Amino acid sequence: MGTAQAGQTDTEQVVFPPPPSFSEQAGVCSMQQYQQMWDDAADDPEGFWGRLAKEELYWFHPFDKVLEWNEPYAKWFTEGKTNVSYNCLDVHLDSWRKNKAALIWEGEPGDTRTLTYAQLHREVCKFSNVLKALGVEQGDVVSIYMPMVPELAIALLACARIGAIHSVVFGGFSSEAIAERNNDASAKILLTADTGWRRGSQLPLKETVDKALEKSPTVEKCIVYRRTGSEVNMVAGRDLWWHDLMESASPDCPAEPLESETPLFILYTSGSTGKPKGIKHTTAGYNLYAKMTSRWVFDLKDTDVYWCTADIGWITGHSYIVYGPLSNGVTAVMYEGAPNWPDESRFWDIVDRHQVTIFYTAPTAIRAFIKWGDQHVEKHDLSSLRLLGTVGEPINPAAWMWYHEKIGKRRCPIVDTWWQTETGGIMMSPLPGATPTKPGSCTRPLPGIIPQIVDEKGNELGTGQQGILVITKPWPGMLRGIWGDDDRYKQQYWSTIAHNYLAGDNAMCDADGYYWIYGRLDDVLNVAGHRLSTTEVESALVSHPSVAEAAVVGRPDDVKGEAVAAFVTLSSGDANEDLRKQLKQHVRQQIGAHAQPDDVRFAALLPKTRSGKIMRRLLRDIAAGKETIGDTTTLEDYSVLASLRSDEE
Ligand code: PRX
Repeated sequence: MGTAQAGQTDTEQVVFPPPPSFSEQAGVCSMQQYQQMWDDAADDPEGFWGRLAKEELYWFHPFDKVLEWNEPYAKWFTEGKTNVSYNCLDVHLDSWRKNKAALIWEGEPGDTRTLTYAQLHREVCKFSNVLKALGVEQGDVVSIYMPMVPELAIALLACARIGAIHSVVFGGFSSEAIAERNNDASAKILLTADTGWRRGSQLPLKETVDKALEKSPTVEKCIVYRRTGSEVNMVAGRDLWWHDLMESASPDCPAEPLESETPLFILYTSGSTGKPKGIKHTTAGYNLYAKMTSRWVFDLKDTDVYWCTADIGWITGHSYIVYGPLSNGVTAVMYEGAPNWPDESRFWDIVDRHQVTIFYTAPTAIRAFIKWGDQHVEKHDLSSLRLLGTVGEPINPAAWMWYHEKIGKRRCPIVDTWWQTETGGIMMSPLPGATPTKPGSCTRPLPGIIPQIVDEKGNELGTGQQGILVITKPWPGMLRGIWGDDDRYKQQYWSTIAHNYLAGDNAMCDADGYYWIYGRLDDVLNVAGHRLSTTEVESALVSHPSVAEAAVVGRPDDVKGEAVAAFVTLSSGDANEDLRKQLKQHVRQQIGAHAQPDDVRFAALLPKTRSGKIMRRLLRDIAAGKETIGDTTTLEDYSVLASLRSDEE
């Protein structure tokens, strides 16, 4: 390995050792220490996780077995009883952390609220009693469609406290998408807000929910948090105001002792079919994994002000705004709004004012900051920062270098964290006091995680060879299934490569044992760090009356990483600008704003092989504006190619 050299351009070859001043104070301070932990976990996984579970979680009743592995079903810490809400809140109340800030929240208009552990505990207990009074019991599903306000975190922790299962639907999803998720999970209660702030205007959350509820027969009650004070329609007997219910709720609600494998939440994510998958996570294993990975990767200290910019609507917010940080008793910042409101310096203003020490964001955000210009960064004092992180997609070395220089001022280690909704927590990442980093690589697996790169037959590939990334051993944070679809769970994750968890990513391991992730192997796009199924967008397009057939592929985008490119053939209507707009809008309505195609191209026919398969590789090349160099002799109709090319937007 070489070391960093000024002016070196081939950044993939550059190695950045942890700054000695960082290592000196770090929890894991050398590669030897990391390697020792990793070896211990690999040699005796049950001993390793069992020890941590005993030390790090509160047990109402001790577990007797660390792992029951009945491939592909894992049960961790069987017979044990614990409670995630207790581990995030109550455990801190007997210590000095009782009056420490748990959440420092900032609203988009600039309003702020700070909740100490004691205050957060009180709110969570009250809301748990609200849920109970409405008949919510252990195992009931509570669907949550809320803005990034403290009440969102309170709702999660209240569900966890009483054993209800939360299913958070990101606030950008459409009414169709909410209804689909409500129905799949048989949600009993839905939580929302009147409207939410977004770049100074208001997102009509309650209005969207009203439409969803017309198609969600299992939902009995809708609790509405008043965020903006906008006028909303309240349906008598169904809709209730959050503040009314809280007014009379008792702050006394002991955490329910819950069996380790009690479901904690469902979180829907896109797979390779049109139907989203409800990824299921359970109590003890998830809690331990979120807690340990937060501590290892972010080197958490009691003095830290930690900020993860994700939305709680995605797994990053679940694990690294709520459960991981709070289990560790850390102070977490939570921000409601957009990074460019009222201007492009908002994030740096927040770092400066709240003296943020750890900052965790997505590569797509970093690329947007680069585009907006360094002047927004330079206006603020970022000297409080000591550690930076990224998540959600591969980070290109140029963005990594900008982050390192402009935000980290060459002082702060960067942790590039690879993981998934399914994995519950970070799987591969540098440990900032130990691991030398290479821009673009998520470096090494965390203790207890044993990845492998294999070919289609499951044979392990050698150094430098690209292949299929699998995880060879169960870990506590792993998904426990797909809600209501066991066959899909087995087929999707455990059948392609026998006895291994299929991550679905294409990756390579280099001579230093560092992993490089190159993107998905399936028809899943990564648009601005969000997973999107091409089939889901195609189904949305063909549900429009003018569309006969649709094919959706990704194309490279400077900021979003990947953009959505759609090719459609029409059954009626004219291939014009108006219809193009309509189709984009239609996808927005069917799925949500993040799924709206960037390009829509009309075609007379879609290029297909003789067996009728759409030639996606060819479409990807066309979408990217590249020459098609592949073998096209199986094209059903060569003329299709030409017409697609000429229909440029
Ligand atoms: O392709 C990988 C990419 O995001 C996928 C998981 O998406 P999701 O379940 O939405 O979770 C995102 C937040 C954890 C992965 O299969 N991905 C995530 N992190 C990285 C990444 N690709 C490269 N580098 C990363 N650090």
